[in-house]
Amino acid sequence: MAASRIVQQPGQSRPTTPDAGDARARIHGMWASVSGSWEEHAPFIDDRHAAVTSRMLDLSMPQPGERVLELACGPGGVGLAAAARVAPAGEVVLSDVAAGMVAIAAARADRLGLTNVRTRVLDLERIEQPHGVYDVVLCRDGLQFALDPAAAAREIRRVLRPGGRVALAVWGPRERNPWLGLVLDAASAQIGAPVPPPGIPGPFSLGDADALGGLLTGAGFADVRVSELAVPLRAGSFDEWWARTSALAGPLAAILASMPEEARLALAERARDLTAAYRTPDGLQFPGVTLLATGRRP
Ligand SMILES: C[S@@+](CC[C@H](N)C(=O)[O-])C[C@H]1O[C@@H](n2cnc3c(N)ncnc32)[C@H](O)[C@@H]1O
Repeated sequence: MAASRIVQQPGQSRPTTPDAGDARARIHGMWASVSGSWEEHAPFIDDRHAAVTSRMLDLSMPQPGERVLELACGPGGVGLAAAARVAPAGEVVLSDVAAGMVAIAAARADRLGLTNVRTRVLDLERIEQPHGVYDVVLCRDGLQFALDPAAAAREIRRVLRPGGRVALAVWGPRERNPWLGLVLDAASAQIGAPVPPPGIPGPFSLGDADALGGLLTGAGFADVRVSELAVPLRAGSFDEWWARTSALAGPLAAILASMPEEARLALAERARDLTAAYRTPDGLQFPGVTLLATGRRP
């Protein structure tokens, strides 16, 4: 299946349907259901995305004393890294729409002894925070799941003070991220329908660099830049990669949970076949590409 493309003009919201509320509830519930796996694999996620995290912080430059909001934080890796940069007087708010993810991020902050980190349950499409109260907004691998990412970009601009900065990371095109794209391909083949289904944004829904930049300029950001970063993935074996990817990928976890054992095994076999091109003597070696988008509120 081809990567989904954004078709709306910069700044324009995706057309919504009367079912948009249901779709949101479905997406949010899907992520809530995998929060335990994100807790278990948080060290792997931090490690794999270390270069993305540092690039986001270098580009958005949180300074001592500033207030930072992380959206769609999951276990909170980006915001936890930002906490040291704004300490001691600055503050980081870790937020996610899934309360389970927020609880995991809060527990990690506690374990690290960070006293300048707060947590909140927030939907990035409707950020329940006052206008202009943050210096920096960070979001790694979250904006692409918004039903209306243009509205989310406007919300991000609204909660930033004039001069405030945003740094976003989203997966690049599906064909350049086979480590996850072929899982969705295998699931589509197994169920005989596109994964994610039409109208439901998936991990690659913002994988077009021009459209991603247009989202920020359309929301009124200045100095918008989009760059890319290689994020390859190595796994010791097919089983290691499959167990971890299927546990973390919200859309896939929901599909697997609804399948009988036989179909689950058949899906894994399809995925095994699709990984043939990425086998090495040391296991699997996949390419991967993240897009980084930054901007400043004028
Ligand atoms: C792929 S995970 C990324 C987690 C984390 N940012 C990271 O990079 O490790 C996607 C996250 O987006 C969150 N999410 C999805 N839709 C959201 C929304 N509308 N508002 C806030 N968070 C959302 C999910 O709950 C999940 O934690």
